[in-house]
Amino acid sequence: MKPACLLVAGILLAIASADEHNHVYEPNEEVVVWMNTIGPMNNWQETYDYYQLPFCHGDSPVQHHHETLGEALQGMDLINSGIPMSYLVPARDEPICTATLQHRDIDLFRYAIANKYWYQMFIDDLPLWGRVGRMVDNEIDSEQGNADTDDDGAPAEYIYTHKIFTIGYNEDRIIEINLTDSNPIRLDPSASSVELEFSYSVEWVPQDKDFKDRFNRFLDADFFEHKVHWFSILSSFMMVLFLTGLVAIILLRTIKRDFTRYDKEDGLGDFDRDIGEDYGWKQLHGDVFRQPPKLMLLSSLIGVGNQLMILSAVVILYTIVGDLYVERATILTATIFLYALTSGVAGYTSASYYAKNGGKDWIRNVMLTASLWPGAVASVGGFVNAVAIYYSSSRAIAFSVILAMLAIWVFLCFPLTLLGAIVGKNWAGQPDFPCRVNPIPRPIPEKLWYFEPLVVIALGGILPFGSIFIEMYFIFTSFWTYKIYYVYGFMFLVFGILLIVTACVTIVSTYFLLNSEDHRWHWMSFLTCASTSAYIYIYATYYFFSRTRMTGLFQASFYFGYTGLVCLGMFCLLGAVGHWATSQFVRKIYQNVKID
Ligand SMILES: *[C@@H]1O[C@H](CO)[C@@H](O)[C@H](O)[C@H]1NC(C)=O
Repeated sequence: MKPACLLVAGILLAIASADEHNHVYEPNEEVVVWMNTIGPMNNWQETYDYYQLPFCHGDSPVQHHHETLGEALQGMDLINSGIPMSYLVPARDEPICTATLQHRDIDLFRYAIANKYWYQMFIDDLPLWGRVGRMVDNEIDSEQGNADTDDDGAPAEYIYTHKIFTIGYNEDRIIEINLTDSNPIRLDPSASSVELEFSYSVEWVPQDKDFKDRFNRFLDADFFEHKVHWFSILSSFMMVLFLTGLVAIILLRTIKRDFTRYDKEDGLGDFDRDIGEDYGWKQLHGDVFRQPPKLMLLSSLIGVGNQLMILSAVVILYTIVGDLYVERATILTATIFLYALTSGVAGYTSASYYAKNGGKDWIRNVMLTASLWPGAVASVGGFVNAVAIYYSSSRAIAFSVILAMLAIWVFLCFPLTLLGAIVGKNWAGQPDFPCRVNPIPRPIPEKLWYFEPLVVIALGGILPFGSIFIEMYFIFTSFWTYKIYYVYGFMFLVFGILLIVTACVTIVSTYFLLNSEDHRWHWMSFLTCASTSAYIYIYATYYFFSRTRMTGLFQASFYFGYTGLVCLGMFCLLGAVGHWATSQFVRKIYQNVKID
């Protein structure tokens, strides 16, 4: 157990010391220029190590940045570029290095330029982006680069060989950096070898902006705080009011009817009581608390869903409080550890639900609960990773990182799930249903087509989907393109609205189901709003084809694989919420039923 503990402690330490640098410089102090990754502009997730392209490296020895778990998973690999830079020391056309390109290297660069490759760098934890080169039509651009252009007039590839850093500083801190690529040199496809000299300039500009506001220029307020965003929140909020009103009316009606009946019963004879208004859902009191089919799977899904719900809420709140979006990959690292720490929730809810409904094989139930979600993540991640390795992308997850994840599962997730399950089984696992179950199940009568479970499930997802639809556009746009999502307050609000809508829709549709004298509400209430995830996936597919210009197998498998995973998570989460709300509702209304 010792090495794994050390590993986990090491990773925790790495998170704690991610902010090793205090961002304060003295004149002449070294400013390290880190190269991160390079990749096609339209495929954000398809990234490669910068030095996989035959760029040359500056004088200093190759040095890697210490990675956190999140950075390793996101394929970040910061390498010291060897560009000499010192605080407040300007540079003008200084050489970096000379690259000798063979024919193959020239072709690689031409491919990268034709596919709009761009790279990312970090200076003082500020990201910078630059282009490898550009396509130029020979005729138009004859004074740029080499004069001896071909006659065919086809566009030619030009590689940028000069970087201009314009750095704004405020006393001893770096505030903003602009990177300009210049001095394009034509890459001649027929040349057998060519020498390229790379150079750079640095200019220091005093500024009076505050250091703590320096990330604001990356946040697109016009986009994220657009009127549409506020309107969508408002309309979802109205929907919540309407739905909660509907649920309240249903609850009041049924309860009021019970009360009037009791009042009448006091003054009436036995005859009236016998022919009382026992119809619809009341008939089912001997069946509603029957053990649901596939109990083990249902309780595991519920456990996972509860954990993911708590996890999402905690991560969103933590991001709001900690302004995590400004730091590299911190959200992912935090999510992994919070996931491990919330494993007890899954064990507790799953085991108590399982035991309450008469399940006996609790060990297998714990195993299933603990491995359901990690198993799904591992299969999708494994597939995408295989493609990433085939592409030799920097996204390929190293074996050591996989071992670290495995260790987190073995030494944190599983024991916590087990602990939660033992507590849940013993403290909250006793059946305490208000009605006894009849030995023989009641036959389910024929009903109208729109009460059929499949129809209800398909329709049930529409309202919750409608309430998050606009927010999803914002989240997708920031995740799959280059905007930084920072309005986590909106996200939290929408998340809350989604949960309430889900609970209400499920309660209402279960009420109608029970009124049509169908007692199979356990799975129904789980699936009614879980179907929202199918709508999300359909929307994601539409988004892929109409809003992005992603290409290639790697980006497609990344997109569809991880979107599918998120949808699976939503499936469990919304199902669990809907089922929980409905259980409370069912318990409430059957408490008042008189059994003669
Ligand atoms: C960087 O570019 C932006 C936009 O072009 C400009 O407003 C800003 O002053 C520049 N910063 C520096 C330090 O030159």
